[in-house]
Amino acid sequence: MTHSGMQVSQSAQIPLAEAGEPPSAGGFWRHDPPYHLFILSSLAFAVLAGFTLAILAPLSIVLEWGWGRRFMPLIQAHGQAQILGFVGLFIIGMVYRLMPRFSGRPLSFPALAWASWPVLSLAVVLRLIAQPAGEGLWQRTLLVSSGCLGLLAACAFALVVMGTLLHRSSRADATGYFFVLAAAFFVLQAGINLELVVLAARRGSDVIRPLEAAPLLHVQLYGFIAMFILGVASRAIPSISGLPRPQVQAKALALALAAAVLVFAIAALLVGSGTRSEALLRIEAASFAALGPIFLAGVWVVGIFRPAANRLAGASQHHIWLLRATFAWLLIAGGMSAYYGVRAIAGGEFIPAYGVDAVRHAVGIGVASMMIAGMAMLILPEFAIRRTRHPNERWPALAILALLSAAAALRVAAAVATPHWQNTDRYWPMAIGGMLAEGALLLFAALFVISLIQKNAMVASFPPRPARE
Ligand code: HEM
Repeated sequence: MTHSGMQVSQSAQIPLAEAGEPPSAGGFWRHDPPYHLFILSSLAFAVLAGFTLAILAPLSIVLEWGWGRRFMPLIQAHGQAQILGFVGLFIIGMVYRLMPRFSGRPLSFPALAWASWPVLSLAVVLRLIAQPAGEGLWQRTLLVSSGCLGLLAACAFALVVMGTLLHRSSRADATGYFFVLAAAFFVLQAGINLELVVLAARRGSDVIRPLEAAPLLHVQLYGFIAMFILGVASRAIPSISGLPRPQVQAKALALALAAAVLVFAIAALLVGSGTRSEALLRIEAASFAALGPIFLAGVWVVGIFRPAANRLAGASQHHIWLLRATFAWLLIAGGMSAYYGVRAIAGGEFIPAYGVDAVRHAVGIGVASMMIAGMAMLILPEFAIRRTRHPNERWPALAILALLSAAAALRVAAAVATPHWQNTDRYWPMAIGGMLAEGALLLFAALFVISLIQKNAMVASFPPRPARE
């Protein structure tokens, strides 16, 4: 980035400044790894793969395209494209951008931060090629290669996060707990994923058995994604809402979430490897149910529904609705996990697959996709510049809010209705939800790209600043 470009991204960070971020301590974050690359590739995975498969897979059932056993590998490719490609790359790009700002330290191992982008992107691309392609030798080789690259990228990411935040001069406080734990879970998920793809390849198969995939998806969604979201929100939102930044409660929240995810992962790994007992199923169900009170506590700690003040500038006011919707969906996800978990504890049985699916999509669409759009529009310099040019522009944020809310409601309702709605028409609301979410992401991606082009044009038009002594 040019010197003058840095000036723009610093000065345009209106909401971060509003959110009480400390001023530059020497400006070492001026050499951030390029978050644009992470965000652009995240959006490409979402629009071209994750949400496209989310439309096609349900349509293949209702319109009887005869995909048969191809449905499962395609759905697993959808899940990984969304979690690692869309949400994962976005989170990692934002982690690299935010860490120096709140820890007061430069990124450790910056070369690894740069390297994690192509390695993780390639891992997701290989997965997207291998799983739909079938069960041959080359497909299985690609699948295992994708698992190896995923683990390499995860280790690189974790080294950067831990090197930066575990340093004694880091001022990350509670946010550091969330980020370090999220990075540790990111490595754990990559290790589990590699083990599962090797197992599938040894069986000569292109699918991971659903029971074996349960710990992987749980660690990805709640250990990595939910942990990171709560970490960012518990730092930024209290500042916006005029509340003191919670430290002790936030640290306790991070540790409680980590413990619940770890217990579930261990129990589900044992269940997946064939160990069966009522006690084990009850432990698994209890750790699933524990997400309920933990998400409730998360919403309280974040403080979005109990503001003491409103520190957002006029042009940012409507973006807060995306964040309110994020945490309303977190409450819904928590309510459902408590309900399905407690029912499974009482019966000493498996948590129903449709319940797990409903919570997954409440978090994947309602929480993660909504938070990505809301936070990005609030804190990225591209959108800040757009706000200065169009201070009265409300429709994009409200359109994204409406589309994602409807998509999440349709997708979650279709899962919840499963016991009473067994025929394949149940896949219609899923397909329509997929189309609405795709529309939201296309709009968001178009806004980001246009704003990025405008920002670059603006930066290029600045006269170069004289070099400092
Ligand atoms: C409206 C948008 C979406 C639609 C229509 C959709 C649709 C689906 C469908 C039909 C399944 C298969 C369910 C089953 O029969 O078991 C599925 C699975 C899954 N979806 Fe989505 N999805 C959407 C968005 C998302 C998002 C945003 C994420 C994550 C960020 C996500 C993550 C997953 C995961 C992890 C699975 C399980 C994959 C596996 O079994 O390995 N989905 N989705």
